[in-house]
Amino acid sequence: MNSPLRVGLIGAGRIGLRHAHNLLANPNARLVAVHDLDHGAAERAAAGVARIAADEAGVLEAADVDAVVIASPTPEHAGQIVRAAEAGKAIFCEKPVTLDLASTRAAMARVTALGVPFQIGFNRRYDPTFAAIAADVHAGAIGTPESYRGISTDAAPPPEAYIAVSGGLFVDSAIHDFDLARFVMGEISHVTTLGRVLIDPAFARHGDVDTAIVTLSFASGAIGVIQNSRRARFGHQVRVEVYGELGRVEGEDSHTPRIVRSDAAGVHTPHVAGFLERFAAAYRAEIDAFVANVRRGEPCTPGATDAIAALAIAEAATRSLASGAPEAVAT
Ligand SMILES: NC(=O)c1ccc[n+]([C@@H]2O[C@H](COP(=O)([O-])OP(=O)(O)OC[C@H]3O[C@@H](n4cnc5c(N)ncnc54)[C@H](O)[C@@H]3O)[C@@H](O)[C@H]2O)c1
Repeated sequence: MNSPLRVGLIGAGRIGLRHAHNLLANPNARLVAVHDLDHGAAERAAAGVARIAADEAGVLEAADVDAVVIASPTPEHAGQIVRAAEAGKAIFCEKPVTLDLASTRAAMARVTALGVPFQIGFNRRYDPTFAAIAADVHAGAIGTPESYRGISTDAAPPPEAYIAVSGGLFVDSAIHDFDLARFVMGEISHVTTLGRVLIDPAFARHGDVDTAIVTLSFASGAIGVIQNSRRARFGHQVRVEVYGELGRVEGEDSHTPRIVRSDAAGVHTPHVAGFLERFAAAYRAEIDAFVANVRRGEPCTPGATDAIAALAIAEAATRSLASGAPEAVAT
């Protein structure tokens, strides 16, 4: 394809607006249509450039749309994915595809059967720090990897209305950590979860936890641990450490601007406020990769298999929270 990829956006909230900005900045893409139930949100994302579609068919089935970016709330994803796939569109969909494995498998089976390009929004794979860690490990820089540690904290808990429909800590948030661990280290066979409500009683009201540790057994024999918290006074943090026979590779936040002020009270550097700031480069890179791969006819990554695998780990972690026992990851 020589002409720019014509992209339609469904859902223009927090993350959809970011995708719209990144599409508008990409010379190989053209944002042609936006649909959001909230007209104001659609208008902001359309930026006076794209047309505003009155309903989802005006994007998902429109003749002037080659590819769709789905950034609506998770319960909307499956129906919109299948509708777009049946209309022959390439699809970028935010994580998770759905809140349960059976419906995710069904949607992904439809996408695969129809043969349309599909990318899932596991943006951390496109973060320069974590991409470099994965490349180092895959190149054998630390020899055979033996153990893995991932830490993720949100700056502050989400509103209760979000908690109520999020699918829980593991499906909503730690799914990024599970995908990253799998990306760096390979398949995960078993998990064991310890979870507590230590921050906000709202999580308990929805059968959820706000603080958790999940141990990982990799198919390779390596072991790992993921530590999650819905609150950190020092801001958003994502950290990875991999230990192997020849050494360790580790990476964390990219503070921007990277200034360090030292005074009588101590040494200070700015917080990273949230994921939109922390992963700005990754959100841009994942959309750029989607656009480039669809235009070239190359496979998109991470794809349907990765969407299913990370959700299977999140489901096993949720089961282990209830059982207190190690749980096998469905294959
Ligand atoms: N990859 C990431 O880092 C990341 C970060 C945040 C959210 N997400 C995912 O992105 C999705 C959206 O999350 P958000 O935080 O942007 O939510 P949000 O509530 O900020 O935005 C969702 C938008 O979709 C609109 N909407 C609701 N129903 C719709 C429908 N049927 N058709 C079209 N538009 C509809 C809403 O009006 C709203 O503007 C979720 O699946 C979430 O898990 C991913």
